[in-house]
Amino acid sequence: MVKMLQCLVVLVSLVVSVHGLDNGLALTPPMGWMSWERFRCNIDCKNQPNDCIGEKLFMDMADRMVEDGFKDAGYEYVNIDDCWASKERDSAGKLQADPDRFPSGIKKLADYVHSRGLKLGIYNDFGTKTCGGYPGSLGHLEVDAKTFAEWGVDMLKMDGCYADVKTMPQGYPNMTKALNATGRPILFSCSWPDYERASKIQPDYKLIAKNCNIWRNYIDIQDSWDSVLKIIDYYAQEQDTLAAVSAPGSFNDPDMLIIGDFSLSVEQAKAQMAMWSILAAPMLMSNDLRTISPEFREILLNKEVIQINQDPSGKMGKRVMQDGDIEVWTKSLDLWEEHAVTYLNRGDSNQRVSLQLKNIGFDYILGYEVRDILNHIEIGHREREGNFTVTVPAKGAYMIYAYPSE
Ligand code: GLA
Repeated sequence: MVKMLQCLVVLVSLVVSVHGLDNGLALTPPMGWMSWERFRCNIDCKNQPNDCIGEKLFMDMADRMVEDGFKDAGYEYVNIDDCWASKERDSAGKLQADPDRFPSGIKKLADYVHSRGLKLGIYNDFGTKTCGGYPGSLGHLEVDAKTFAEWGVDMLKMDGCYADVKTMPQGYPNMTKALNATGRPILFSCSWPDYERASKIQPDYKLIAKNCNIWRNYIDIQDSWDSVLKIIDYYAQEQDTLAAVSAPGSFNDPDMLIIGDFSLSVEQAKAQMAMWSILAAPMLMSNDLRTISPEFREILLNKEVIQINQDPSGKMGKRVMQDGDIEVWTKSLDLWEEHAVTYLNRGDSNQRVSLQLKNIGFDYILGYEVRDILNHIEIGHREREGNFTVTVPAKGAYMIYAYPSE
């Protein structure tokens, strides 16, 4: 009996070490909210109690997510980014939240978020300090994984500041193991490939996908259209490598949605939504849901576009055509001969784009039923041959969903 048990233990640990991350999470791209891009490292709760990194901000966002339809649309994680921690670990060597800004502690905050039917995410760093200068997890991976699990945390973003990049391919998987060992399913977001890229090291995406549910591969998004375009360019340039590892349980993360912040126009916001959807990107909003205007809220709540993002295939779309300011990105969906297309227009004027569906991979002989899903308009039947023409707004996008005609 003892022998049998020993064998079982060996087998189980083999399975864990072969498969790495073993949490069954992120079968479709995770959706939620994250503090960083909008609220940064604002720790001035005395003067800015509504806009600082403190428990109130995350409770407010959880409330808005539930009451304004975001939860119903699929947004689930409320994520604390950097600057939540106290500058010192406690006497037992555990991370602790800043007591002034999180007076109830993270466990209580997790309880609150769970009571609203949502999940809580948190942030740490693989190195000696977080990017904002708070305690890092180097040398504390196990204890930090346990602490997060005890608090009831559901997602962890592990950043890579103040770390030796060369140790990441071993070190991040150690955190994967530590998270697995807690027994609590914690969605793991890794910044490891982004730091490798920045150091001109080619990331081993197979290893990354084995150990992380989502991973950042490129620079931080800023509140600007240029920043959105720059990220899209990187994804186009690397699309074969990145698409190859996009699958249920493992997704490339082009960073947060900035829809409803200060810079994107309505058309640009629709374009970010349409692009992140076709890329099978995590949909992590970083905005102020308390003051967001209705037209931006509506874009974020677009169920047809979300459905493409959440397609069970987990496939990342690819750029299949580029002509001047126009790019055409396609993604074939889980169901046979269903497709989504995002047309991106980087130019200053609206453009009419004509193509034959068969030239972008639509092969069904009876043709397709087509919908404009950014604007919820039925376009109707289209043949796979013959010109299919759409108008793509200036600095904006047009997105269709097509399914086979009967
Ligand atoms: C890095 C990350 C950002 C954010 C900040 C916090 O820059 O890429 O997403 O987490 O650190 O300091």
